[in-house]
Amino acid sequence: MHDVEVPLGNRSYHILVGVGNLSGLGEECRRLPLKGPRCAIITDDNVRPLYGPLAEKSLKDAGFEPLIISLPAGESTKSLKWVDFCYQQLAAFRLERQSFLVALGGGVIGDLAGFVAATYLRGIPFVQVPTTLLAQVDSSVGGKVGINLEAGKNLVGAFYQPRLVICDLSTLTTLPLRELRAGLAEVIKYGAIYDADLFQLLEATLPVLLQLDLQHWEPLVARCCAIKAEVVAQDETESGLRAILNFGHTIGHAIEAVSGYGHYLHGEAIAIGMVAEAWLSQQNTGLSPAEARRLAKLIAAAGLPVRYAVDEERWQKLLHAMQLDKKVSQGQIKFVLLSALGRALWGQPVAPEQIRQSLASTFADEAAST
Ligand code: NAD
Ligand code: GLY
Repeated sequence: MHDVEVPLGNRSYHILVGVGNLSGLGEECRRLPLKGPRCAIITDDNVRPLYGPLAEKSLKDAGFEPLIISLPAGESTKSLKWVDFCYQQLAAFRLERQSFLVALGGGVIGDLAGFVAATYLRGIPFVQVPTTLLAQVDSSVGGKVGINLEAGKNLVGAFYQPRLVICDLSTLTTLPLRELRAGLAEVIKYGAIYDADLFQLLEATLPVLLQLDLQHWEPLVARCCAIKAEVVAQDETESGLRAILNFGHTIGHAIEAVSGYGHYLHGEAIAIGMVAEAWLSQQNTGLSPAEARRLAKLIAAAGLPVRYAVDEERWQKLLHAMQLDKKVSQGQIKFVLLSALGRALWGQPVAPEQIRQSLASTFADEAAST
């Protein structure tokens, strides 16, 4: 078991990474201590039959009285409609200020349940139990919670830290391979922006990782959480350094928006974004061609997409989406670019014509075929 601390003063918390540690959920909540005794597990209809009973039993064995709220799976659930549904259920169950919530599921459930926890009764404690790789290495850590509006993704939210994160790697055994690969994109991102040794380890162990050897995954997930914890501890509300976590996201978010949410998984769009932004890094911030190719090659070897073809019409839509992005300032589209593998620079302006070239260049295909 690995124990990673997120050091945020009196809001510090631990991320427990292990195999089979979901069964310890109730005891860990008791140890914190979370008072209860009433609490609620928010989950989705795919995860509930797989892990709901174990989470519920663990809480009951520790003396809590859990209500289970199960929501439809998928991105469209991250909406005000389902937030309101949760509020109604919590009120009917008479959840009080000393009660707490457990988010059991992927990033959709973690973001939504965290937002419910941040706002119900002006804030009650919550615990993250992420069950996708993406949620384990990224969304469950750092306190960004929120929901989508028709106008765009994650437009309503808060910074609200959980009291505890339990990453049980054995939940990954039921995750569809496509979802695992999408989470892997975020793991590769940590190597690219922060840790060249991690990047090298990924290059060396990719085949065993894809076969889901959990012993190999445990230190990797813990390392990703530790990187996120280090970054968040220095810049919780993203006034600077935290922006490096958005490598690949300026182009990736625009691809998600233009292709219709759900066509590409988040990690797939970020994978394409990282390849294009590696090319931009080569042009602007001194990333060597050899390192840019290594990144594109690793992404392709992980079974992730590397290229997004754009004609004039699609390019205009992409540009429009990038101009609406939260990272635009004073009309300039800003990027996170690499100066080397493991070293990132944020707030780098890039002209639209060069962004278009990054998508149209043959760089991605060349790197993927070497
Ligand atoms: P998700 O929550 O939709 O989960 C993906 C699918 O896997 C769903 O169908 C889910 O039911 C299923 N699933 C979950 N765990 C499973 C398991 N163990 N076995 C079988 N099936 C399982 O998607 P996600 O990729 O986990 O999260 C994406 C969301 O995370 C997006 O809304 C994104 O905006 C958000 N996000 C938030 C942050 C943050 O910092 N808060 C960071 C990155 C992404
Ligand atoms: N996923 C980016 C962040 O948490 O800041």
